[in-house]
Amino acid sequence: MDFKIAVLPGDGIGPEIIDQAKKVIEAVGIKFNHKFNFKQGLVGAIAIDKTGNPLPEETLDLCRSSDAVLFGAIGDPKYDNDPSAKVRPEQGLLAMRKELGLYANVRPVSTLPSLIEKSPLKREIVQGVDIMMIRELTGGIYFGKPQGRSEDGNTAYDSCVYSRYEIERVVRLACDYAMKRSKKITVVDKANVLATSRLWRETAVIAVKDYKELTMDFMFVDNAAMQLIQNPRKFDVIVTENMFGDILSDEASVLTGSLGLLPSASIGLSTSVFEPIHGSYPQAAGKNIANPLGTILSAGMMLDLAFNLKTEAEVIKTAVAKSIEAEYVTEDLNRTHPRSTSDVGEWIARYIQESN
Ligand code: IPM
Ligand code: MN
Repeated sequence: MDFKIAVLPGDGIGPEIIDQAKKVIEAVGIKFNHKFNFKQGLVGAIAIDKTGNPLPEETLDLCRSSDAVLFGAIGDPKYDNDPSAKVRPEQGLLAMRKELGLYANVRPVSTLPSLIEKSPLKREIVQGVDIMMIRELTGGIYFGKPQGRSEDGNTAYDSCVYSRYEIERVVRLACDYAMKRSKKITVVDKANVLATSRLWRETAVIAVKDYKELTMDFMFVDNAAMQLIQNPRKFDVIVTENMFGDILSDEASVLTGSLGLLPSASIGLSTSVFEPIHGSYPQAAGKNIANPLGTILSAGMMLDLAFNLKTEAEVIKTAVAKSIEAEYVTEDLNRTHPRSTSDVGEWIARYIQESN
């Protein structure tokens, strides 16, 4: 089959890690006789430098006309320390979410037995953790209006806004995931304080009625933040609003000990975006040391969710697990004999081509 992939490497280590994912996708293409057509677009700080816009119209058109988007990372320190900057790389990301209708961000977090020692938590606590974190991505306080400052500049405000429709579609997606797993779902909110959270609960209770075998429970976000550390194994599918999800998904990502390893999918109304959950890691840019596994696994999620190539996606997962087993990994996972970003990518691509 033929697939069109929009490739947006972005900033920092983005281009290096994306190159490795491309190698791996190419290897899958050769092995399984698919044609993957890559087309590259600008996004983030590099897009600002070249066009003045963190998400140029041309990039958006490319995304819309592709079957899926493979995304690297965005962000550049030169914007972080300048609160007066008029355009920021992050605006490109937020605009992409809105324009493509990326309403749900899906982040699987599970422990790999061989990496458990890397976790900041005790083995007994993290062993067997397997969480599917689902974050609403185009609503809430990130996009609510009004947002801004009072005329005298001394007051600022953001608005958290949710409609039933926005809540229902992401809760349903989460329920679909839960049905394929342990049929348990936790809705995280702050219904003791926020009106939007109360609408979340109300909507979730109605939505779950269509899923007969599903158990749904509710948890306040502060409690969830605590339980994720104390007893992460109690969670299976978690669904929550945009900002709570931003915070909890970062928290969940460190449980397993390697941020560099985790993939994500942002499910869109027509085109979905696949990206590692880590940032642009500017200190490592151009050094060929960044861990490409999160991006390679994101490519795996793309084959699975966007192209329905289940076997091919499994092959990528297996190859990544083999590289970890062989300790053929970057310095974050192997201090004594680190391999370069490109060597890891090549190893995995070769493994796929040579496997039966
Ligand atoms: C993320 C990031 C973004 C967010 C930033 C860069 C706008 O932290 O993807 O989680 O807050 O959503
Ligand atoms: Mn975040």
